[in-house]
Amino acid sequence: MVNSNSISIARQRIRESRRLAVITGAGVSAESGIPTFRGPGGLWRNFRAEELATPEAFKRDPKLVWEWYDWRRGICKQAQPNPGHLSLAKIETTATEFLLITQNVDGLHKRAGSKRIAEIHGNIWRARCTLCGNEFDLEETPLLEIPPRCKCKGIARPDIVWFGETYDQDLLEDILDFLSGTDTLITVGTSGMVPMPVYLTRHAMSHGAFAIDLNPDESELSGIVNLSLRGKAGEILPNLTEI
Ligand code: APR
Repeated sequence: MVNSNSISIARQRIRESRRLAVITGAGVSAESGIPTFRGPGGLWRNFRAEELATPEAFKRDPKLVWEWYDWRRGICKQAQPNPGHLSLAKIETTATEFLLITQNVDGLHKRAGSKRIAEIHGNIWRARCTLCGNEFDLEETPLLEIPPRCKCKGIARPDIVWFGETYDQDLLEDILDFLSGTDTLITVGTSGMVPMPVYLTRHAMSHGAFAIDLNPDESELSGIVNLSLRGKAGEILPNLTEI
């Protein structure tokens, strides 16, 4: 369990940071009832995310992939931001410079009031036409038509970065730039099994950032960061915002 000394170190770092960055993963939404990818409840019809969130899976069976997303969209719609999301929105209001980098596609950070968000894996409420490339909001839940179609009648896909696909390079450049001058970086609720959070953390640390990881369990970040806080996002983050 996390001790009060670690909490006060983290609080002080946050308070004294001119530039603060946060990277979140599925764990920050776990207390909102959205299963993490690699934790309990992460499987759908016995498929792992790696088997469905790929361009190949979509090409093979777009209906199956959309059924999985339709299920996840239903869960996300029911979910409410938890104290972890709300605390991050609050931290943003007191920081001089702030960026929230999220791997989550559920939209809960925005609903909690966060403003400067980089959704590096896209957003589950947007779709993109595979024919004409049109991007559009897709909010109906459950979906009326699977797979959903664009106005041009082309099949749409979720506007999400899948396994084997590249990140938006402009967005990534902006993030790396921001992290080059970041005083404190907090990673929350990510296993680091997808390597981007580890890469970004190493980048920020090599430019002088103090890195804090928050996770109830050991993660790929645990051995890298300066300070590891063991606990749940919804319980620890509110403590960090009582500045
Ligand atoms: N608070 C904080 N962390 C938590 C909580 C909680 N209440 N509950 C679970 N966790 C932690 C788990 O210990 C785990 O380390 O959240 C992490 C979730 O890990 P993953 O399921 O691997 O999710 P994430 O790291 O976000 O996955 C990255 O993989 O499948 C893809 O694109 C998908 O964005 C996702 C990416």
